[in-house]
Amino acid sequence: MTKVSELAYNKCFAATPEDLGEVAVLYGGVSAERAISLISGQAVAHALKELGVNVNAIDVGENVIEQLSDASFDTAFIALHGVGGEDGKIQALLEYLGKPYTGSGLAASALAMDKLKSKQVWQAEGFSTPPYLCVNADSDWQAVMNTLGAEVFVKPIHEGSSLGMSCVDNAVDLKNAYQLAATFDPKVLVEQRIVGAEYSVALLNGQALPPISMLTSNSFYDYQAKYESNETRYQCPCDLSAEKGDEIQAIAVKAFNALGCSGWGRIDFMQNKDGDFFLLEANTVPGMTEHSLVPMAAKVVGLDFKALLLEILVDV
Ligand SMILES: Nc1ncnc2c1ncn2[C@@H]1O[C@H](COP(=O)(O)OP(=O)(O)O)[C@@H](O)[C@H]1O
Ligand SMILES: [Mg+2]
Repeated sequence: MTKVSELAYNKCFAATPEDLGEVAVLYGGVSAERAISLISGQAVAHALKELGVNVNAIDVGENVIEQLSDASFDTAFIALHGVGGEDGKIQALLEYLGKPYTGSGLAASALAMDKLKSKQVWQAEGFSTPPYLCVNADSDWQAVMNTLGAEVFVKPIHEGSSLGMSCVDNAVDLKNAYQLAATFDPKVLVEQRIVGAEYSVALLNGQALPPISMLTSNSFYDYQAKYESNETRYQCPCDLSAEKGDEIQAIAVKAFNALGCSGWGRIDFMQNKDGDFFLLEANTVPGMTEHSLVPMAAKVVGLDFKALLLEILVDV
């Protein structure tokens, strides 16, 4: 199903810690996903140090312009999730500073961070994504339910980690869910619930890694299921047939490219009962702890955490 491994190994052996120079690991940040980014950044910095890379770990604060202007580094490994780190802002600053960085460029990062704009691009390119409506405080909540169906997801457009998100099945709960989402982002999306299995596909330097399936006993893959629960089950390789696996990988590569994304990332999918895949969102800086999804998929093609980091860094 996946053909990354040997090529990837050859490439990462070509990169030595000396080639990389001083690597700034940018982590923490001020977004709602700070707690996860602290773990990602510490894992990345620790592994790079063990490889002998000269690491400058920077916990990014409000004074990021000053911090990066004053810091010594040749390349930046961006381990910041969410607003400020995954949305094009830090990428723009690094462009001004003339420093190469991991992952997608600033325009693709901004586009991928916007769940609405991503869906619009995907729809225009003929990909399936759940039907949706944009809502505001004056929306007719019953009309939204009538249009989208029995169960809907309410999402802040620019958030991640399932923060501010709810799944509801009636107009009263929908209004409350809107109010919660709006505390995270004034722009809110309501999406039809796709009932079925959930998958995620990691992208690495132009290729898709094996799909991962996520199974939760919660009502959906919420913050608790993602980061706190021991009950959430991940499978990689997963239960998809070889044919369906190829199909989801091909969609992932094309959907990632359609947004202009590059380097590494992850695309989240739902599959309905008929077996059709629906694109949920693209993540340009997904979780990077040793237990995160991208490292899990990389391991299946023979890339351990350190090799994965070198693979991400080698092409910046
Ligand atoms: N339209 C949908 N149908 C079914 N489940 C959904 C839908 N949208 C989101 N979910 C569930 O919510 C989770 C988080 O949604 P997602 O769009 O990936 O945002 P986040 O950026 O918070 O990860 C998904 O992993 C999935 O479990
Ligand atoms: Mg997601």
